[in-house]
Amino acid sequence: MNPSINLVVLAQPDAVGKEAARRFKEWAHERLKEADSFSVALSGGSTPLYLHRALVHDADSIPWKKIDVLLGDERALPPSDDNSNFKMAKDSLLSLVPIDPERIHRPRAEASDLKMAAHEYSQTLIALAGDPPAVDLVFLGIGDDGHTASLFPGEPEPEGWVAATRAPEGTASDDRLSFTYKTLVAAKKLIVMVTGEKKAATLERISQDDCDLPMARIIRDRDQGTTILADQAAASRIARED
Ligand code: 6PG
Repeated sequence: MNPSINLVVLAQPDAVGKEAARRFKEWAHERLKEADSFSVALSGGSTPLYLHRALVHDADSIPWKKIDVLLGDERALPPSDDNSNFKMAKDSLLSLVPIDPERIHRPRAEASDLKMAAHEYSQTLIALAGDPPAVDLVFLGIGDDGHTASLFPGEPEPEGWVAATRAPEGTASDDRLSFTYKTLVAAKKLIVMVTGEKKAATLERISQDDCDLPMARIIRDRDQGTTILADQAAASRIARED
């Protein structure tokens, strides 16, 4: 097991969501003892729904008025599209908690010029998290192919803090906006949520030191370590060392 990984195995996906929410709340309160705001980047896909459900349930104990929400990646779609990560976050979380609408920072992924939209979002990131940007907390998922955010295996590493990227043919919207490797490496805390048997082989690969999948590269380059919250199904192929 890569020593930079703090692997926490939970019984079921709901428990992964609850543990992620607990860590979100704990870290936000801790950071806000010495800062005026807390920046968090949500991830897309379906796994975050477990986290969002837990955050809505525990909403009263989270300092929403001081929290800035970003998206770690987005599909090049209008925010009303069912495949939009923003729509998923809005429907499952942002519309259900007392967050300041001014502190919801959505990338303009519907723009015709995605490179310009990426540049604009980079500026938002810098305004919220400093230059170079160090987001307080970033949530990520892992695709079956080992991609994370919208950084895909075999693709060249993009420049900047946010980039326009391309997903393989056939995925939900080929054109994307994504935090880059260096933004994900620089995050103060990085929590990866992974559930289900389908992810077991990929998680096993990522846990090995010689893996070159996007998630493995990010973990290797981070000084701060990375927490992976996995359910038993996703962690079923990882040899337990304890
Ligand atoms: C996206 C996501 C992506 C996601 C993984 C896992 O826009 O598709 O940001 O990186 O985290 O594909 O998705 P699931 O949680 O649906 O398995």
